Amino acid sequence: MAKVFRYGLYGVGRIGKVHGQIVKDQGHSIVAVGDEVPAAADVAAEALGEPQIPRFSDPQRMIDSVDLDAVIISSHTKDHARDARPFVVAGIPVYLEKPLTSELPEAFDFVADVGSDPHLIQIGLQRRFDEALLHAKEMLDDGMIGPIREIRSILRDQFPPPPTYTSRGLIIDMGIHVADEALWLLGEYPSEVWARMLSAKHYDSPVDEGGNTAFVGFTTPAGTIGRLDLSRTHASGYNNETYIIGTEGTIHVGRFMGYPGPIPVELWTASGELHPQSQTFEMARLAGDYAEFQPRFHTTYQRAHAGFRHAVESGEPFRVTQNDVLSAQAFVEAAHLSALDEGRSRRFAHSDDVQEFRELTVANGLLD
Ligand SMILES: NC(=O)c1ccc[n+]([C@@H]2O[C@H](COP(=O)([O-])OP(=O)(O)OC[C@H]3O[C@@H](n4cnc5c(N)ncnc54)[C@H](O)[C@@H]3O)[C@@H](O)[C@H]2O)c1
Repeated sequence: MAKVFRYGLYGVGRIGKVHGQIVKDQGHSIVAVGDEVPAAADVAAEALGEPQIPRFSDPQRMIDSVDLDAVIISSHTKDHARDARPFVVAGIPVYLEKPLTSELPEAFDFVADVGSDPHLIQIGLQRRFDEALLHAKEMLDDGMIGPIREIRSILRDQFPPPPTYTSRGLIIDMGIHVADEALWLLGEYPSEVWARMLSAKHYDSPVDEGGNTAFVGFTTPAGTIGRLDLSRTHASGYNNETYIIGTEGTIHVGRFMGYPGPIPVELWTASGELHPQSQTFEMARLAGDYAEFQPRFHTTYQRAHAGFRHAVESGEPFRVTQNDVLSAQAFVEAAHLSALDEGRSRRFAHSDDVQEFRELTVANGLLD
């Protein structure tokens, strides 16, 4: 039987509780709960059915007091690096929610500091574990639609975020999911990025994210054209879709068919027919209260946690790390700055070497 992991949870708002419940349902133990807001830890301990569990409002105290096999960190974005660092230093494998930080300079500092080792941190960019997207990626990598001409990734929430949520902007916090998805599916980085932030009508949110709708455009050195559509106003339900147009066909993942509903992965051939390798996946049907993104990604979160533990036990690298999220974070920073500048294009360049990547990012005016 696989090892039962002793998990700590640090940062236990909306998604922190979701992660805790998932690993608990997978047969693992929650042995400590932490949050800088003690009331949040109390609420989470109750919600997870662990009223007696030790609680902490400081990561180092949790590390010093409890024997942990792993920690899941889902605090406010601005606190991610601060909260993750002590666990990394203590050699505890970290599952860390995205993005790495709120501010890009801190993200570069963090990666320069902890290093690029892919065995330290798995990032909560769960799309890389999603069955539907993995099926699409396999067909892409098998060359079934030929070279990619265009990609469009859509992420639309139905509702505004909760009042406790803090964010530097819609593109930074929400856009990073589809920015990473595009980088992962394409296997290349943008060379030019632009964006507009807009406000769809009749929308009331407790959180100012600079707007409720954003369109991000980009091109790559290989000539691929990309677009990310973000919004918080999809009135008929949470909507995740990806179109990938190649020279010989098109892949469409997640055509909206109700929420929760099926997740079709359609491969349309050059003769306009549906290829037999097209496949439909199902969303989870959940009982009780749940966050709006859970039905679409419940199974994906389960797979991400299973993948995390597999990597820890086998010594394999994590599938999505601090290096990947830094790339996606710099990409969305370029888009965010463009949106603040009425859509003026920004140059973008990437390097696997963190210092060189930082210099390129400075040279492109994305960082001082
Ligand atoms: N991977 C994903 O699909 C996904 C989904 C949602 C959020 N996230 C990320 O996870 C992080 C946390 O997001 P969230 O949606 O859980 O935010 P949240 O606002 O629910 O929780 C963040 C913090 O707010 C405080 N808080 C929350 N509920 C509280 C309560 N009842 N009482 C007192 N304080 C409370 C806590 O300090 C908590 O750590 C963010 O970085 C976000 O970007 C990722």
